[in-house]
Amino acid sequence: MIKASDFGSDFLWGVATAAPQIEGAATLYGKGLSIWDTFSNRSGKIKNNHKLAIACDFYHRYQQDIALVKLLGFKVFRFSISWARILPNGIGFVNQEGIRFYHNLIDECLRQGIVPFVTLYHWDLPQALEDEGGWTSFSINTAFNNFVSLCATEYGDKVKNWIILNEPFGFTSLGYMLGIHAPGKTGLSNFFPAVLHTALAQAEGGKILRSEVSNANIGTTYSCSEILPYTQSDNDILAAKRVDSLINRLFVEPALGLGFPTGNWDVLEKFQMEYGTWRLNERMRFDFDFIGLQNYFPLTIKYNAFVPVIQAWEVKAKNRKKPHTAMGWEINANSFYNIIKQFAAYPAIKNLMITENGAAYHDKVINGSVVDAERIEYFKLYLEALLKAKKEGVNISGYMAWTLMDNFEWAEGFNARFGLVHTDFKTLQRTIKYSGYWWQEFLKN
Ligand code: NOJ
Repeated sequence: MIKASDFGSDFLWGVATAAPQIEGAATLYGKGLSIWDTFSNRSGKIKNNHKLAIACDFYHRYQQDIALVKLLGFKVFRFSISWARILPNGIGFVNQEGIRFYHNLIDECLRQGIVPFVTLYHWDLPQALEDEGGWTSFSINTAFNNFVSLCATEYGDKVKNWIILNEPFGFTSLGYMLGIHAPGKTGLSNFFPAVLHTALAQAEGGKILRSEVSNANIGTTYSCSEILPYTQSDNDILAAKRVDSLINRLFVEPALGLGFPTGNWDVLEKFQMEYGTWRLNERMRFDFDFIGLQNYFPLTIKYNAFVPVIQAWEVKAKNRKKPHTAMGWEINANSFYNIIKQFAAYPAIKNLMITENGAAYHDKVINGSVVDAERIEYFKLYLEALLKAKKEGVNISGYMAWTLMDNFEWAEGFNARFGLVHTDFKTLQRTIKYSGYWWQEFLKN
């Protein structure tokens, strides 16, 4: 039986969350609108038209929720700062009530003996900045740097662990290319400038923290998936390579000083030519203390000439009769191990942390209990794969489960439950699931 102590006594165990998914109080206490507030108010964008105005009401319940983190035995609590809560217009006027909220939250973590890990950007761009073009506009970098600097000055004495961006490929692709996340923009003419400014933001944010926070441990996170060709045909293998360049390589390589990848793919070559990105290679480089990996599933890719630009298509787990979660995501711990190895192979990566991993199921409270045996099984398999990589010498310093409690899962609304704690979205009552109790036991040993 796998035990927490197998990972070593200094291994950091945590749970991860994000402001827009849990906080609520979306229009209260001087907070400005974020792109997710606006997007969720557009009809048909979120399943069942769920809104994030209240979410888990963490804003008013953070003390009890941190007590839950502690009760479950985690050492680390990862949360994000809502940019629009402290800078309602994105830049300029500072909302002192918002500033105070994060002081209180950080102080509460420290009081309860929990280490705060702060994500600076977890997708909730102030709407006022989106009105100026958001991530597609060059001016976003000035605004972002200013936001980072404000957070460093305010919280840098108390917070030493920082994550600059959460899943840059996630928010640029879903929000600026496919339009299924906020702000709902589409096409390469939005995607590529967003990619460029985001890659600049991750490095510049890191440099600002380095100069303004003493003894900071600075990282950034990437969504990643092992990419498997459906068959060994040349077409499928090349299609898988294109997807790998986009999903796994697009943001980490510029951070490591390698510039953007091309993956022998004319679309990425053209992007680099058009924007002269090589001139910015030094600006996009930053020596991160750790790289955060967020992995849930692998992708099996088949060539498809009818799919614009990428000419690739995912063959879903269900159609391949593979085990999957309620999101339809394939459960495959070996692919978790493989993607860890893929990232560990970059010589410039010093240290990895798993900053998210978890599974959604259709959980129900029955007689006061949530028996989520499948989630426990998922964690066991993935933790074993992680331990294997660690034992083979990969430098991994921590693991954070996604997520503390069921929350607002973006376009899925409240329908996808990833929590170790069940949230009743009518009463806001929290019920620890069996997986939460499983973690409690696991972390004791
Ligand atoms: C990615 C994101 O960082 C997080 O916000 C999301 O809820 C989980 N993974 C699950 O989709």
